[in-house]
Amino acid sequence: MTRIAVFGTGYLGATHAACMAELGHEVIGVDVDAGKLAKLEAGEVPFYEPGLEDVLKRNLQAGRLTFSSSYREAAEFADVHFIGVGTPQKKGEFAADLTYVDSVIDTLAPLLARPAVILGKSTVPVGTAARLAEKARAKAPAGDGVELGWNPEFLREGYAVQDTLHPDRLVLGVEANRTTRVEEAAREIYAQLLSDDIPFLVTDLATAELVKTSANAFLATKISFINAIAEVCEAAGADVTMLADAIGHDIRIGRKFLNAGIGFGGGCLPKDIRAFMARAGELGADQALTFLREVDNINMRRRTRVVDLTREAVGGNLLGFRVGVLGAAFKPDSDDVRDSPALNIAGQIQLQGASVTVFDPKAMDNSRRLFPTLSYATDIESACAGADVVLVLTEWQEFRVLNPASLEPIVRQKKIIDGRNCLDATSWRNHGWAYRGLGRTGPLP
Ligand code: UDX
Repeated sequence: MTRIAVFGTGYLGATHAACMAELGHEVIGVDVDAGKLAKLEAGEVPFYEPGLEDVLKRNLQAGRLTFSSSYREAAEFADVHFIGVGTPQKKGEFAADLTYVDSVIDTLAPLLARPAVILGKSTVPVGTAARLAEKARAKAPAGDGVELGWNPEFLREGYAVQDTLHPDRLVLGVEANRTTRVEEAAREIYAQLLSDDIPFLVTDLATAELVKTSANAFLATKISFINAIAEVCEAAGADVTMLADAIGHDIRIGRKFLNAGIGFGGGCLPKDIRAFMARAGELGADQALTFLREVDNINMRRRTRVVDLTREAVGGNLLGFRVGVLGAAFKPDSDDVRDSPALNIAGQIQLQGASVTVFDPKAMDNSRRLFPTLSYATDIESACAGADVVLVLTEWQEFRVLNPASLEPIVRQKKIIDGRNCLDATSWRNHGWAYRGLGRTGPLP
């Protein structure tokens, strides 16, 4: 059993804290946001994540998990300190904003009176870990007794608990010419995972930082690759979904992350590829990553494409038409609307004069906060009432299985655009709907 502190109780930190307690450790979650702490202490997860509330409640009850706003309490309690705060994109720049990560070290280090291990989990530009290690030692009364490692997190929203307790791999970056304390701490904390034969890769700090950014850059590239092919499919009258199935059978390619549609969004992929480009530029390796600029461009073009298709569907001018939007979250099983392509499209269509009503099973509150000027409905039917076009922009299960006949009496025109290629095109067409997928053949709605 290790005594652990986790700094930051957002998506990453709250999940990590609860899951470390689930592994049997004693954990204190620390945040500066009193509102978040109050919810977590009451067993409430401040965002939607299947399965997390159970883990949280179970470990609160078992007394293994507590929350606090006090860095002093955490410094006195824990031997291993995880950094799980956000690294958002800087305003008006591509680079990552490291304010929160630095502030954890600035506040925590002066309180470290005895030897301690700091493990970073946040996604940071390569070189950050080495800098933070030096800073922590300079500021800590324990001095050289403070060692730092980087242990990047690969969890996906919607699968956060599963990905934390059963990851594909564990990666740990360690400092050169130091003791083996960091690795020993990680091996003890993750003992249960290691006994399940989860691959454990110990690297230098820079490699560990780059593993994370490269993995996200690869995933983003894969999505933009298939979306670029979707553009060609549309021009050539081919079907990108069948194409993806066919190329995906080649195990070197693989079918996963080849779903063409309105592209990637969320709190990670978009900002991570931009921060990666910015950092490569600082290191004098900018040419190496210029292709990511194109990956970003292809991705943003998907949004405009759906706006164009919607406009064409109503005869070339959106003014005065009604559009029902199903889906606002950046992906299903999440209430996250950060950089969500769905909300972005809804907003653009409204700005072109249409009246847009949005429904999402979980992301309504977050959407209202981010885009207060859109109209929101409480269910699928009210979102689609009187619609001239229906757009499906997040592939929630309840949208996938929608019965075309049930919407028929509600809409003004039977036109549907499937922004995620998640509906059964034949079934919608058989019910008399003008169906249009992305990168797929077929008449415009
Ligand atoms: C991602 C990484 O997968 C995860 O490893 C990392 O730790 C954080 O970033 P997440 O942001 O939760 O996780 O979402 P992910 O499932 O990767 O999806 C990202 C976006 O890509 C979503 O908007 C999704 O709709 C889109 N996507 C995904 C596609 O458009 N097509 C696909 O084939 C797959």
